[in-house]
Amino acid sequence: MKRALIILALLGAGAAALVFWLGLRSDPGDISMVSPLQTPAGLSVEERGHYLVRVGDCMACHTRQGGADYAGGRMIPTPFGDFYSPNLTPDPETGLGNWSADDFWKAMHEGRSRDGSLLYPAFPYTNYTKLSRDDSDAMFAYLRTLPAVKEARREHQLQFPYNYRFLLVGWRALFFRPGVYQPDSAQDEQWNRGAYLVQGLGHCSACHEARNALGAVQSRDNPAGGLVLNWYAPALAAPAEAGVQHWPKEDIVRLLRDGIAPGASTLGPMAEVVYESLQHASAQDLDAMATYLKSLEPTQPPARGAVQVPTHAVDDMSKRGSLIYAEHCASCHGDAGEGAPPAAPALRGNRAVTMAAAVNPIRVVLFGGYAPGTAGNPRPFGMPPFGSTLSNQDVADVLTYTRSAWGNQGSPVSAAEVARNRQGPLW
Ligand code: HEC
Ligand code: HEC
Ligand code: HEC
Repeated sequence: MKRALIILALLGAGAAALVFWLGLRSDPGDISMVSPLQTPAGLSVEERGHYLVRVGDCMACHTRQGGADYAGGRMIPTPFGDFYSPNLTPDPETGLGNWSADDFWKAMHEGRSRDGSLLYPAFPYTNYTKLSRDDSDAMFAYLRTLPAVKEARREHQLQFPYNYRFLLVGWRALFFRPGVYQPDSAQDEQWNRGAYLVQGLGHCSACHEARNALGAVQSRDNPAGGLVLNWYAPALAAPAEAGVQHWPKEDIVRLLRDGIAPGASTLGPMAEVVYESLQHASAQDLDAMATYLKSLEPTQPPARGAVQVPTHAVDDMSKRGSLIYAEHCASCHGDAGEGAPPAAPALRGNRAVTMAAAVNPIRVVLFGGYAPGTAGNPRPFGMPPFGSTLSNQDVADVLTYTRSAWGNQGSPVSAAEVARNRQGPLW
């Protein structure tokens, strides 16, 4: 009996030591890997860093509305509480003024701050860990050229127990291994460049993949997309959602660069990604991303739970919905949902309308939206907000109609789901 207890205690201590070792061990990284991205001739290291920081979209999180560029303070709402991004400018007290290129590499590659503390994965270092050391150094060199702005770090407002940073030891042991991108020798250079951009610098999976209850991306077990800021980021490998395997490459490039493509328009957080980041990517890097995205093994997102609308009510909802559509929507989207590109996207045969997750169409109808203004689409047309004109039932009716008219095969939308989407942070 006593012996069994001793063995059990030893096993427990062994397991704890393993967790601490896995969660805290440092990893210098494979610094022999050089970036697969080519620098156009004549660019300085700082200019290259500027390009990388843009394509990595550091701005989106590290600049608050009305604040100085990269001075932090933006609130990032998550199911675990609200995070506030830190200041990346070279201010010695509140920013990265006292940091070295090694400290910066440790943050990007290992997710650890200068003092060794573990960083929350709301900072997508789980993607940035794939970056090469030369790219990390170039980004740091660029950040050092920014004006130093004094902007004190705001405390995160996290729920218990997530406010205990040391618990990240266990999270990292379970879900994180540092590792620089390793090129796949079976693929060509352009594909590898695209994989580096999509998996690493562009951190697409940070939004586009489902997370488990502890906030870890879990694409291996669950091919669904992810929820981000109350929008649904559809699965990038699923042709029924955001998969583009069947698109011509030029259309993929147009979507990423211009924010619109035939039959698709970027909304909400994706519009911001295009605006802040992807429209600045080089033609070669856009082509690389399209090459990689086209090669993804198509997946089928899991079926969603049963819709909470009684079947007998659906016909009535659709009937009312068709009247609302004729009055409020047809002038732009056409009597038969055919759209009037580029002014308004088609709703017929548009997967953004029929996707199982109805949050995006609901949010667009409630809050309206603009595709991003880009060189390829300089004056985007807007969709007006209907949140104050239409009731929850009206929105449910018009979307239930839109999702099933003209050959569309989407599920009904309930008034309760619309009500849930009236709350929450706006994008
Ligand atoms: C999705 C939002 C998001 C994006 C995108 C993002 N960050 Fe962050 N970053 C954060 C948050 C939140 C933290 C704070 C994490 C913490 O407190 O543990 C952070 C922390 C950091 C830190 C550590 C600072 C410190 O004081 O320890 C560095 C360095 C950093 N980010 C650099 C970058 C760079 C460079 C990029 C672009 C390549 C980037 N971040 C993109 C959200 C983001
Ligand atoms: C900040 C979160 C976020 C990031 C980062 C992000 N996306 Fe998205 N993406 C979304 C959301 C939300 C949608 C759904 C709204 C829409 O259709 O625009 C979306 C939609 C898409 C679509 C489908 C568009 C359509 O209508 O068919 C594609 C393709 C896409 N994203 C590609 C990418 C790629 C490639 C990257 C990385 C370079 C990326 N996204 C990074 C949030 C994000
Ligand atoms: C004034 C013209 C206009 C009216 C009226 C209008 N829309 Fe839109 N709609 C747009 C534009 C422009 C977009 C693209 C917005 C974007 O990309 O952010 C859009 C986007 C959408 C989308 C998302 C499609 C996609 O590809 O992502 C849906 C769903 C939608 N509208 C439904 C409706 C419904 C339902 C109504 C009526 C209640 C309506 N719209 C009324 C102009 C309009």
